[in-house]
Amino acid sequence: MAGFVDKTPLTSGRKLDHLRICADEEIERGSPGFEDVRLVHSALPECDLSRIDLSTRFLGQRLNSPLFIAAMTGGHPGTTEVNRSLARAAERYGLGMCVGSQRAALENPRLEESFRVVREEAPHAFLSANLGIVQLRDHGLDWAERAVSMIDADAISIHLNFLQEAIQPEGDHDATGCYDALAALCMESKVPVIVKETGSGISAETARACWGAGVRAIDIGGWGGTSWAAVEAFRAERSPGHQETRLVSLGALFEDWGIPTAVSLCEVASTGSPVIATGGIRSGLDMARALALGADLCGVALPLLKTALESEDTLFTRIETLHRELSTAMFLSGSAKIADQKRARAYITGKTRQMLEHIQGGK
Ligand SMILES: Cc1cc2nc3c(=O)[nH]c(=O)nc-3n(C[C@H](O)[C@H](O)[C@H](O)COP(=O)(O)O)c2cc1C
Repeated sequence: MAGFVDKTPLTSGRKLDHLRICADEEIERGSPGFEDVRLVHSALPECDLSRIDLSTRFLGQRLNSPLFIAAMTGGHPGTTEVNRSLARAAERYGLGMCVGSQRAALENPRLEESFRVVREEAPHAFLSANLGIVQLRDHGLDWAERAVSMIDADAISIHLNFLQEAIQPEGDHDATGCYDALAALCMESKVPVIVKETGSGISAETARACWGAGVRAIDIGGWGGTSWAAVEAFRAERSPGHQETRLVSLGALFEDWGIPTAVSLCEVASTGSPVIATGGIRSGLDMARALALGADLCGVALPLLKTALESEDTLFTRIETLHRELSTAMFLSGSAKIADQKRARAYITGKTRQMLEHIQGGK
């Protein structure tokens, strides 16, 4: 085919690069703003810590906890075992999980096993497929349906990552036509469509556009956790050359770009639901704060990846710790169940408050 560039080895190799950089380097930047969110203490909670109910519902399915294993990996044979461990955790604890971008396996079906393993290990879990919005625009419903059937998914997440694309040497820099592609998928898809950012956050304006397109849930993917500007800067640094040197400084300049998770969450939750809060959530206390600000689920990526790479036991212990912390925060807020925590009151201070006042006060 004239002009056809086979990006398969590039896509698959990039998946392994990302995994290695995220495991080895310091790639978190900034703060999601949860230190500005102080839950109101209930001195007379009238509930039993040992009976706090973490179960919840999301897109018609029951989950044992609002902890959501955010999209991370698959797409290279070297990623299969991490996905296996994450899927086992999803099955064991009744958690929802989103796989990493399935682009590499859609380009090269030999890589499908690194994703299929997730459904094999988590036959009962709520699983979301994952595709970039540019691939959706360029390949349409066919790729979306193949991604869903590859893991018998309950939903499909379409990721928005234009900051990363702008800094990747091989990135897609043309975002035109993406909204129409999203709306067309929402019309045709047999499973609910979730739209997700990957670390720069979603504004109220973008959220309204997404609901208008027909998405069924929004994952805000806010700033203050894993930074894709930092990850791509490390990648560029590891492959020196004229263009890459420029990309290292571009990545460094834009490490601060994005809407902090706590702010993005308030913006998006004011426009509709359900909302997944992802980006820099590092404890069960952060989860409790996010629920009080309007989150339905709380996505965690990097900490689960790092523990999964250590051992499955370490991953399971981390999940149990998150649950223990969440239960404690709920108990001290006087919330016996997730619906109560979503009504919990919080004081918002500092920069988060300033940013939210700025939004309420208009431009
Ligand atoms: C190693 C790694 C790979 C990721 N790959 C994807 C991906 O393929 N698709 C996607 O939508 N998000 C991807 N993400 C983004 C996460 O889903 C999440 O939005 C982001 O990392 C913020 O969460 P965190 O601060 O808890 O890491 C990835 C994150 C990590 C750490």
